[in-house]
Amino acid sequence: MNTIAVIGAGTMGNGIAHVFAQNGLQVHLVDISQDSLDKGIATITKNLDRMVAKERISNDDKENTLSNITTFTDFRSGVDETDLVVEAATENLSIKLDIFKQLDTICDPKTILATNTSSISITQIGAATERPDKVIGMHFMNPVPIMKLVEIIRGYNTSDEVTNTIMELSKQLGKTPTEVNDYPGFVANRILMPMLNEAIETLYNGVAGVNEIDTVMKLGMAHPMGPLQLADFIGLDVCLSILNVMYEGFKNPKYVPCPLLVNMVMAGKLGVKSGEGFYDYAESRKAEKVSSQFS
Ligand SMILES: NC(=O)c1ccc[n+]([C@@H]2O[C@H](COP(=O)([O-])OP(=O)(O)OC[C@H]3O[C@@H](n4cnc5c(N)ncnc54)[C@H](O)[C@@H]3O)[C@@H](O)[C@H]2O)c1
Repeated sequence: MNTIAVIGAGTMGNGIAHVFAQNGLQVHLVDISQDSLDKGIATITKNLDRMVAKERISNDDKENTLSNITTFTDFRSGVDETDLVVEAATENLSIKLDIFKQLDTICDPKTILATNTSSISITQIGAATERPDKVIGMHFMNPVPIMKLVEIIRGYNTSDEVTNTIMELSKQLGKTPTEVNDYPGFVANRILMPMLNEAIETLYNGVAGVNEIDTVMKLGMAHPMGPLQLADFIGLDVCLSILNVMYEGFKNPKYVPCPLLVNMVMAGKLGVKSGEGFYDYAESRKAEKVSSQFS
């Protein structure tokens, strides 16, 4: 692997680009929005600055990492002549199917096509291409530079060779890959999302307030952050999409999204990325306090 493309420069895409670039790979960061690309590079720079300040990396490491990343709004130029593509665009089936159809026609037949989807079927995405054996889930966790796990999801047709290549590559990035099969929500979100949804339901039912619910789970269960704060960090739109995929996939009412979550997403309250969710991130002091948990 020498050159990889990362599609989407949002919450996850910029973290994925950061980790590959810091490990010496050439990264093409591709987004339809120049604003997202600018914000993505600003986030990577801020996170690298924090690592330099903590003496985890040198200033040269920071400069080398940044110089390994090139940004593109033109899809074709961004993905052409890459060895691996990691798609981290919006969690929406039709967007992902469209991206993979395009990738299949543009990229070399040898290029592995990975997706960072939280819940959408790898098998269905693979079926949109002529190379389902080379389509795989590479599910990084948020925040990518810090979290060790990569959930590696084998689609029905993903080959052993491609799975082994992606497992090895994840280890080279300093991560711990874990192989799972392709069912809605995989493992991580199948277990996490019902808990977040239940926390929102608890708030919706008036059992307790935001701070109280998060405090119970932080201090009572030793979770590093409360479920409502975690939902804000993931993005409430992303949580809603994942719950909908699991509900559709299993037809089990336990995955029905709480009406409060649905309402908040319709109102544009998406969590950290929109400036407001269960917490208010508009005051820079509060946002800084929360983000410092990741430093
Ligand atoms: N947020 C999380 O905590 C988290 C964790 C693990 C996995 N994921 C998954 O990662 C993926 C990205 O999620 P996110 O939270 O980074 O979303 P986000 O909303 O922060 O960013 C999505 C980015 O994709 C871009 N985009 C949309 N359509 C595009 C296209 N056709 N081509 C190129 N770029 C396009 C958007 O402009 C945006 O910058 C989703 O599949 C999500 O389920 C998210």
